Amino acid sequence: MAEHTLGYGVIGAGGISRFAHLPNLARNPRARLVAIADIDPAKARRAAEDFDIPYWYDDYHELLANPEVEAVSVTTWPAAHAEPVIAAAAAGKHVLCEKPIATSLEDADAMVEAADRAGVRFTMGYQHRFGTGLPLVKQLLGEGVIGRPMGMTQVGVGPSAHGVPWFLQKQYSGGGVLIDWGIYTAHTILWLMGPVASVYATSEIFRSEVMVRDQLVTGIDVEDTVMATMRFANGAMGSWYAAWAVAAAHGGMTLDGSDGSIITGRDNSGLSVFSNTFSEPAHLHGWRQLKTVEPVLADLHYRKLAHLIDSVLDDRPLQLTGADGRDALELVLAIYRSAETGRPVSLPLARSAVPQSV
Ligand SMILES: NC(=O)c1ccc[n+]([C@@H]2O[C@H](COP(=O)([O-])OP(=O)(O)OC[C@H]3O[C@@H](n4cnc5c(N)ncnc54)[C@H](O)[C@@H]3O)[C@@H](O)[C@H]2O)c1
Repeated sequence: MAEHTLGYGVIGAGGISRFAHLPNLARNPRARLVAIADIDPAKARRAAEDFDIPYWYDDYHELLANPEVEAVSVTTWPAAHAEPVIAAAAAGKHVLCEKPIATSLEDADAMVEAADRAGVRFTMGYQHRFGTGLPLVKQLLGEGVIGRPMGMTQVGVGPSAHGVPWFLQKQYSGGGVLIDWGIYTAHTILWLMGPVASVYATSEIFRSEVMVRDQLVTGIDVEDTVMATMRFANGAMGSWYAAWAVAAAHGGMTLDGSDGSIITGRDNSGLSVFSNTFSEPAHLHGWRQLKTVEPVLADLHYRKLAHLIDSVLDDRPLQLTGADGRDALELVLAIYRSAETGRPVSLPLARSAVPQSV
């Protein structure tokens, strides 16, 4: 008997939908692309034609009412993630939400609660988690290779290439480089280092206008540069520099502890590791290079979608959840709050003191 394939719908037919979700759902033998929705009917129809999708809608509620749809990707802009995710969960659909989970912690909490209440699986669009480099760093830390963690640095800078203007408009995006590029990093930092106890940060809009494709976007109200220091609950210290208005792309992460260090390359491929815990003679101690090779981007997207599909069909727990997305947003919002006020901010953010929109 043929295996049941998961009926899948996609809400949002823009850039990431067409680049990552639709092609990688179309080539997954365990998924069946059933429906697409976009408030722009022309986009929904074109996607349906291009990817051979039986149903298209200009209202995602109709997609959610389709009984053939068992799981959805939500690929709308960030301020429009919460409503469809909550509605999808209430309709009993499993959900993959693109990053960031939302633009306010109130929305993120409501999304996680809706999925929990409905008993559906809820994961995030963090494809970098499905590479090889970061899971190996996680494994090395778990094996105690650097000993007690003491300090970490993170740099992620480069020129931005926004496909659409909303990335530079706070009402749609929730913020600039930190919530867009940095949300992956926030998750990585928490995943590797554990909870952050406090942050102290500063940010700037160095570039107030930029060409997006052939359109001049002026009056940019989201930060392009952030510098933050962090104190972790385990006592370690961290620094984080994120910028997307600079000319050259570079960066990576360093992790230092009582017995060793790990340095990652910019795309996580290739780790430098030093450890006093290795068992060879002391005169052989030194830096060693672990040549991890990252999958190509399309395959990372394939894996992040397969993670949800396999979790549902094989009844296996998710490795990455909406709650992880919520925690990453909390760290980002704490850094924004510190940069706004010029004061250190403690985590977890008290519900009453949470900046409900950035
Ligand atoms: N994981 C990644 O690598 C990655 C890369 C780029 C973008 N993203 C994320 O994906 C999301 C979308 O980004 P994009 O570049 O595709 O933007 P986009 O503007 O190209 O596409 C967004 C689409 O959502 C539609 N939309 C908005 N509100 C809607 C609603 N209520 N119902 C149905 N459709 C609606 C818009 O009409 C548009 O077609 C954002 O959250 C972004 O941060 C993720």
